[in-house]
Amino acid sequence: MANTSNDVDGDGALPDRGMKKGLTSYGDTGFSLFLRKAFIKGAGYTDAALDRPVIGIANTGSDYNPCHGNAPQLIEAVKRGVMLAGGLPMAFPTISVHESFAAPTSMYLRNLMAIDTEEMIRAQPMDAVVLIGGCDKTVPAQLMGAASANLPSIVLITGSMLTGSHRGERVGACTDCRRYWGKFRAGEIDADETAEVNDQLVASVGTCSVMGTASTMACIAEALGMTVPGGASPPAVTADRIRIAEQTGAQAVQMARDRLTPDKLLTPAAFENALCVLLAIGGSTNGIVHLAAIAGRVGLELDLHALDRMGRETPVLLDLKPSGQHYMEDFHHAGGMATLLRELKPLLHLDALTVTGRTLGEEMERARPAFAQGVVRSAAAPIYPQGGIAVLWGNLAPGGAIIKQSAADPALMEHEGRAVVFENLEDLAARIDSDDLDVTAQDVLVLKHIGPKGASMPEAGALPIPRKLARAGVKDMLRISDGRMSGTAFGTIVLHVTPEAAVGGPLAHVRNGDRIALSVKNRSITLQVTEAELARRAREQPVAEPSAERGYRKLYLRSVTQANQGVDFDFLRAAQIVGKVPRG
Ligand code: FES
Repeated sequence: MANTSNDVDGDGALPDRGMKKGLTSYGDTGFSLFLRKAFIKGAGYTDAALDRPVIGIANTGSDYNPCHGNAPQLIEAVKRGVMLAGGLPMAFPTISVHESFAAPTSMYLRNLMAIDTEEMIRAQPMDAVVLIGGCDKTVPAQLMGAASANLPSIVLITGSMLTGSHRGERVGACTDCRRYWGKFRAGEIDADETAEVNDQLVASVGTCSVMGTASTMACIAEALGMTVPGGASPPAVTADRIRIAEQTGAQAVQMARDRLTPDKLLTPAAFENALCVLLAIGGSTNGIVHLAAIAGRVGLELDLHALDRMGRETPVLLDLKPSGQHYMEDFHHAGGMATLLRELKPLLHLDALTVTGRTLGEEMERARPAFAQGVVRSAAAPIYPQGGIAVLWGNLAPGGAIIKQSAADPALMEHEGRAVVFENLEDLAARIDSDDLDVTAQDVLVLKHIGPKGASMPEAGALPIPRKLARAGVKDMLRISDGRMSGTAFGTIVLHVTPEAAVGGPLAHVRNGDRIALSVKNRSITLQVTEAELARRAREQPVAEPSAERGYRKLYLRSVTQANQGVDFDFLRAAQIVGKVPRG
């Protein structure tokens, strides 16, 4: 065969595959490939290796991210799977974001990680990519980037951590972190015991062991069809997790051959399956924000009204903390997602395609048979009769707000009280524990300016119970903010109030002593202040939107959207919205 300019090695292979893909611009494609091969051969590769389908592996291992502490073992297993299937594995680094090591918040960096993931997938020659993610923001970021890059992509979850033991009690991050911190604040345990339990809460590498955001996103990734079957639940340090990694590598090679791109998987049916699973697992409220962002990348808008209707018909079946009792490793022992999906079968779109090239229904048929277990309830005996998350509307949240009803106090679901307002996080820190704070257990704690623009949406929506009330035994109060809360948190907490205070939403104009009424039954959140009075307050104290002079912060503040659009950047969403999910 003639040696054309982009077929410098004369092998006739397609120029859009493997090492020939996306050549660096030197104005001479033949030279570009010649140079690329010269450099990669410097690492000892042969032509035979370089002719194989190239499978990128996004390595998110980082000393700052113990939730991804098993990344080296996973990469080794993925490489084995890729090579067994005839591909060439190429690991490459991207940003890694851990909840506790990202200031000001991990949410601030999610979109940066999504950009990094998308651009490195685009820039480097690969025919498919394995995305190793786990900690809360990483899987959403990778799915967002993959959806936009539209290269065959498969998610490999790092897996949950093991549970620990404190004085005979089983504990795990991070529901128990909050519970023990609450005990410490209430004076129920001393500093020594607090230090002791600190050693036990995270018993191994891996993601949080309850149904927090990481576990939620793992289940969602599998429900979207973006992992191999069974990919959500194996704990990080198990042989099952390593086998999933090997399988993922092999599957990536097949996806490369079949050109199985995310647009064929991330369909309205797949998003509806994911939302159904989110509701049925009592999943993290953050799952809604992330799904809105991922859907936005493929031109689908999250319809909160339809989501709420779906929630009314979807029971919570998974008995995991914080809505229930168990931990992720128990879910895995109970059969993982196969067990859950079997119970949800009548509510799912079985024709949705998965990374295996088979449909969800076909994969459910191939799953191991059911057995007796006590973690996934039957639809006839749910842990909670309706979906874990309800959507609220009202003059305080014209763009919607949400509440995780499965983790709330039933006694507060219909509640009216006096607002005790904190203007921002600093104000909260300064006054929440003051003995002078004018507050009772019946009041409503309101925290402003922790929305996407206000403070890059920290997980501060679960405001601490004021110390003097905590010491008096108060465990829960109605709390309202424009921020998020950790998926591991619990309480009667209204989140994602939209529009946020920092862009002048009604929340900005709530004052101490205003009356606020919550009715989960009626899906309403009402500030009992007239429109005229709110308008007067807005004129009197107009809100100045935050801005920045330079860098990523400038890009963030200029471009970030509200919670109902997933807090994605406006310029990263699909150019056109082509539909809504769920479809109502
Ligand atoms: Fe990483 Fe919880 S902190 S999953």
